[in-house]
Amino acid sequence: MFRIEVDDINGRTESLYVYGDRSILTELEQHNVLINHSCRQGHCGSCILQLLSGDVIHQDTLVPLSQGEILACRAMPVTDIKISSRD
Ligand code: FES
Repeated sequence: MFRIEVDDINGRTESLYVYGDRSILTELEQHNVLINHSCRQGHCGSCILQLLSGDVIHQDTLVPLSQGEILACRAMPVTDIKISSRD
């Protein structure tokens, strides 16, 4: 089980505990932490978040990401992580 520390995403700052078998987007939705998204398939880039600490694994994505950026719809935690909105 991993901890996702949500750092001020749409006004929410809290810790979620997840198994790491679903996307970060899905986990956030399950906990009513709402972020922008559209395609859910790694194509549109609307779900980009900033990874502040920890590691994730990405499924295939077409969106170029800068250092520290993750796609919430295609990323799953492999350690405890801390995430925030993109600057
Ligand atoms: S929702 Fe489109 S890339 Fe994540």
